[in-house]
Amino acid sequence: MSQKKISVIPKRENFNSVSTINSDEKAILTAHFSNVYLQKNKTKTLTDLKEIYNIKEKTITIAEEAYQHLLFEMDKAPFKCSEDYKFTFIDLFAGIGGFRLALQNIGGKCTYTSEWERYAQHTYFANYGEYPFGDITKDEIKNFIPEKMDIVCAGFPCQAFSIAGHQKGFSDTRGTLYFDIEQIILKHQPKVVFLENVKNLISHDSGNTFQTILNSLEIKLGYKVYYEVLNTATHANIPQNRERIFIVAFNPEKVPDYHSFQFPQKIKLTKTIHDFLEKGQQDKDLYYSPDHKYYPELSKFITSKETIYQWRRVYARENKNKLCPTLTANMGTGGHNVPLIKDDFGIRKLTPKECFAFQGFPMNKFILPSISKSKLYMQAGNSVTTTLIEKIAKQIIKVL
Ligand SMILES: C[S@@+](CC[C@H](N)C(=O)[O-])C[C@H]1O[C@@H](n2cnc3c(N)ncnc32)[C@H](O)[C@@H]1O
Repeated sequence: MSQKKISVIPKRENFNSVSTINSDEKAILTAHFSNVYLQKNKTKTLTDLKEIYNIKEKTITIAEEAYQHLLFEMDKAPFKCSEDYKFTFIDLFAGIGGFRLALQNIGGKCTYTSEWERYAQHTYFANYGEYPFGDITKDEIKNFIPEKMDIVCAGFPCQAFSIAGHQKGFSDTRGTLYFDIEQIILKHQPKVVFLENVKNLISHDSGNTFQTILNSLEIKLGYKVYYEVLNTATHANIPQNRERIFIVAFNPEKVPDYHSFQFPQKIKLTKTIHDFLEKGQQDKDLYYSPDHKYYPELSKFITSKETIYQWRRVYARENKNKLCPTLTANMGTGGHNVPLIKDDFGIRKLTPKECFAFQGFPMNKFILPSISKSKLYMQAGNSVTTTLIEKIAKQIIKVL
């Protein structure tokens, strides 16, 4: 961060859109407020920032009023950590905080977050009152990670592996995002590492990618590793077909009871898609009008109100099992990947709110900021199912 003086203070109501402080500065301020300022009974001042975060040779001069604006916005966030917390965690590749919400719900305090995508940062701040730090590959961003934490959480992107795997092979996978997590584990020695990824991480590059991760965790870092593929529909009582791999690794010296760890058992699916769908007519732009070029084709296939369909360019596929198909990040690109339903008003895409609900977010409280629907779809598709994360985290806490 360069020497910076905020000279133009935006009006309070315009603060988010015309802010003169950048997102990493917001991250510093909000993390400072949540982790230090509150706990010191507000005796600490902004001048402590330099000392606390060890910002070498760099100073941030933030006008008091800008700070007040942030505090004002932070206060409105619906999901705050209890100060009476039982364990700490950090939230890497945080997206919209699917890990954070889950671990907060069971008594965790998040002490650091990183997510570089601007719109995900908006959603994150609106809900948890903290701005994530940006690019985790940079040392100056890693340096803000507090020295100690109980759990490191990361739903890390796997594309890095795919690209590296396909193009150059393993000798060149260093420098990809898993290795940033490895570096953080090595330095901070958390009790537990909790990772999530797509199911085919296991088979990618004939299993070499996954073996590299296992070798890193077990041999290089000395952790005891458990992994399992779980489905949102069979393990979280949410009718979305979403298989993901979950990796839980324990530091055996810090968690001697690690061998008692068990992933959660299957539970009965008692909810139906109607528990997640909005009632009444939705925004017009979500419906296919009868003069749409695909309407004749869609209306031939999309005939039932009891299931959710997936548009496959040449046909619409019905989910016979009455589950929502896997929500994916590419719902945000062009919109044709958004699952479809038939309601009393026509054939339409799922709303962003419905997609968040199928990922377990409590939509009576969770705030969707005013950003485009495509960004919201992408955020929902990228996220973990937060209630499934909560179930796994409860199992982790039992052995901590
Ligand atoms: C699969 S998503 C994880 C979503 C998250 N688990 C959730 O519940 O919403 C991966 C996220 O990593 C973020 N990301 C990718 N590279 C990053 C980097 N170098 N620094 C920080 N975040 C990064 C992406 O923007 C994306 O939101």
